[in-house]
Amino acid sequence: MRFLKLIMILLFIAVPLVAFSAEKAKTIDELAKMYDVSSCKQCHPKVFEEWEKSYHAISLVGSPRTMATIASAVKDGILKEWTKSGAKEVKDIKVEHMLSCLKCHLPQIKDATDAVAQEIAKAAIDGAAGDEAAQEKLKKVGINCLICHNQKALIHKWTDGEPEAGVIYGNKEGAHGDAKFKALKKSPIMKESILCGQCHGLGPNFDLTEPTQCATLYGSYLHSYVPSGGSKTCQECHMDKGHLMPAYRDPDQAKKAVRVEVDAMGYYFLPKPGDSIPTAKVTVKMISNAGHRIPDG
Ligand code: HEC
Ligand code: HEC
Ligand code: HEC
Ligand code: HEC
Ligand code: HEC
Repeated sequence: MRFLKLIMILLFIAVPLVAFSAEKAKTIDELAKMYDVSSCKQCHPKVFEEWEKSYHAISLVGSPRTMATIASAVKDGILKEWTKSGAKEVKDIKVEHMLSCLKCHLPQIKDATDAVAQEIAKAAIDGAAGDEAAQEKLKKVGINCLICHNQKALIHKWTDGEPEAGVIYGNKEGAHGDAKFKALKKSPIMKESILCGQCHGLGPNFDLTEPTQCATLYGSYLHSYVPSGGSKTCQECHMDKGHLMPAYRDPDQAKKAVRVEVDAMGYYFLPKPGDSIPTAKVTVKMISNAGHRIPDG
């Protein structure tokens, strides 16, 4: 009887612990597996290939300025200048510290343990110092299909609830061929700028313990472009090449960015007879065609 009681107590302690740890990834590889999208390629090859070449796909590395800047945020910020962060060495780093950047650059970090936060911090430092294996490791995770088509597809949780497991959110409802994601549901925001605005920022991230500021163009879109009569969404301007969503890297997009009008007039000015000063008047008008300030950040 006493033995049974002991087992029951042990079970009570053990079950929640197991359930908790089973939920969270303990390595970058485990996190990559939890958010695996390799199955999508088979049926959506075009979308997949466009996305693979996007900066979203490698959002911890980027141009690769992102990797280098994450490395300095860790070394100079978390471990040094943010003296009250509680972290002195990489081994002290927690998910909460890395949210300063990963809130947007890798939102799936919410499903990982502090060990993953430390692994990412170390890989960014090593990668920035030229270690190619570390860079490849960071490229295993990024803003992939499941971030936009599940995790970030519902915003107003009291209205729409939490995103469900096994569901792909798009523009329609119905069955879906994927072995793990068997249902399609409609996301009310898939065609709206607010989907992108979740990461493309309003200004400082006041929700963080140590607010950071990176991307801010959703603020500019809302407070400048829309009130001036702008009516296009992010998707309308940036998804004409599908899921690649390029900015400066695409010469076509760059050409659309600004219109420049130059008006020049040459004349001379005569202060006294025999003495002339050649003069030119040049008027340059630069009109931004973007739906927000450029450059951003
Ligand atoms: C509010 C969400 C958000 C947070 C928090 C955030 N970023 Fe960003 N970051 C973005 C977005 C979106 C871009 C895309 C480009 C743009 O608008 O400039 C970006 C772009 C960048 C770029 C330029 C991209 C490139 O490939 O060159 C760097 C570098 C960068 N972020 C580093 C960081 C670092 C380091 C931190 C943490 C200290 C951080 N970001 C925090 C959203 C964020
Ligand atoms: C940064 C966010 C984002 C990511 C990442 C993303 N999508 Fe999308 N996807 C969208 C948006 C937004 C639309 C809707 C565009 C519209 O209807 O105007 C869309 C539409 C689609 C559509 C329907 C329209 C079409 O182009 O065929 C499919 C299928 C799709 N996505 C699959 C994927 C797959 C597969 C991946 C990963 C390889 C992926 N998406 C990654 C945002 C994203
Ligand atoms: C076995 C094939 C198959 C696989 C695997 C698959 N899809 Fe699909 N998916 C489809 C088909 C077919 C449709 C179109 C359904 C329709 O129009 O009713 C679709 C539609 C979609 C849509 C668009 C819904 C809309 O609004 O039009 C998205 C987004 C999407 N899939 C994402 C994904 C993602 C992400 C994965 C990987 C996790 C994936 N799919 C894996 C076959 C597949
Ligand atoms: C989960 C956060 C997140 C969401 C949602 C998101 N983005 Fe991004 N986006 C980023 C980050 C982070 C980067 C910068 C990656 C890097 O270079 O480090 C980026 C980069 C970009 C770039 C620059 C790409 C380049 O080649 O320079 C464009 C354009 C862009 N996003 C458009 C969009 C659009 C349009 C949507 C909505 C359909 C969207 N994003 C949704 C986080 C996000
Ligand atoms: C009216 C069309 C239009 C709309 C609407 C629009 N953009 Fe842009 N966006 C552009 C153009 C044009 C550029 C400049 C590209 C270049 O210089 O090569 C740009 C640049 C960008 C960049 C790169 C900025 C940088 O400095 O690195 C990002 C990121 C971006 N847009 C995201 C978004 C997001 C997110 C939204 C919605 C909130 C949005 N855009 C709405 C046209 C638009």
